[in-house]
Amino acid sequence: MSSTNKTVVVGVTGGIAAYKSAELVSRLYKAGISVQVIMTENATRFITPLTLRTLSGNPVLTDAFQEDNRWRVQHIGIAEEADLLVIAPATANIIAKIAHGLADDLLSTVVLATRAPLLLVPAMNTNMFTNPVVQENLATLRKRGFHVLEPDEGELACGVSGKGRMPEVDVIFRRVWELLAPRTDFAGKTLLITSGPTQEDIDPVRYITNRSTGRMGLALAHQAMARGGKVILVTGPTNLPLPEGASIVRVRSAREMFERAKEYYPHCDIVIGAAAVADYRPRTYSEQKVKKSDDDLVIELTRNPDILGELGRDKRNRILVGFAAETGDLIANGEAKMKKKNLDLLVANDVTLDGAGFGVDTNIVTIISRKGEITSLPKMSKDDLARIILDKIAELF
Ligand code: CTP
Repeated sequence: MSSTNKTVVVGVTGGIAAYKSAELVSRLYKAGISVQVIMTENATRFITPLTLRTLSGNPVLTDAFQEDNRWRVQHIGIAEEADLLVIAPATANIIAKIAHGLADDLLSTVVLATRAPLLLVPAMNTNMFTNPVVQENLATLRKRGFHVLEPDEGELACGVSGKGRMPEVDVIFRRVWELLAPRTDFAGKTLLITSGPTQEDIDPVRYITNRSTGRMGLALAHQAMARGGKVILVTGPTNLPLPEGASIVRVRSAREMFERAKEYYPHCDIVIGAAAVADYRPRTYSEQKVKKSDDDLVIELTRNPDILGELGRDKRNRILVGFAAETGDLIANGEAKMKKKNLDLLVANDVTLDGAGFGVDTNIVTIISRKGEITSLPKMSKDDLARIILDKIAELF
């Protein structure tokens, strides 16, 4: 058992998965972490405080007004001591309370009072999880910087099958560990990340674009910065909030993206082409709005520069990573693309699959390396995927 001087507050709320929190508490305790368990009243109906007290080696707190002379003001004392709060399982109710700032029991009060990072592990019936109000609350919390672990899909305790199962304790433990001991493997590295769609003007009011939202590029930027990297984000138009602390370069067209990427290229160690760059633009731009007539309108398109491909021609010792959207022959097409653009890694996704590609929070990809290593990943959030892509890049340092 290695001893850390970290304190983790484990919040347990009332769901069937509460029994798994016993294993989580035990794992944390064995890793030398000081564990303080707070249970909601409903949670005590699923698992006894005695179990968690025994596994954590600490009295379990359930009541905001319980006598406990370890702290002068209990909820403030706990909030200050915590290096991390993890709520597992997190019910729809606690998620709603946190999203709206309610503090009507010890756990929700501690959440409001702490400055420590918070990891939520939602687990519930799939209809509850996918209910728009729960999803909106989770989106609000993510926006505020809370960490949310996506539930697994599968057979649920209520008999139905779907998304809502609490992830394996090992997955939760690894995430806790990561949040407690932030990795710094990108310290000293500068990443140039292209992100989002491009817009190719036809006339002053019209343009050609694609469905990219920029979510993948932003997830990569966030994670790279969290791991100590410096990020230059060259982004096409996006409605998503841009990461604070990154150098943001806003562009519209592919040509603009190319010019700005070339400008920053000499200063970077890693390039990730997450942008969905329009391969073509209108051959001519009409200064005046194109007026309609009774005839069909033909817009002639011409090729845009291949940004990654061009950068790959003067690669030196940089690491270059690209994405590929495919509708078939994932690996063969991916390998050809990687060679053509002189890349080190290629993240290929089959955009015909449900939950992959543009406009969704998840992706299903196969990562191909220059050495021929092929890693097929299951459906996962773009945040989790960003983490894995960065792990693969770090292996190449
Ligand atoms: N890319 C780029 N400049 C372009 C087009 C693409 O930098 N003009 C980058 C993208 O950011 C992505 C990868 O190259 O990392 C995608 O390559 P691309 O050859 O466009 O593949 P697909 O989009 O999959 O399209 P296609 O199969 O039609 O070639």
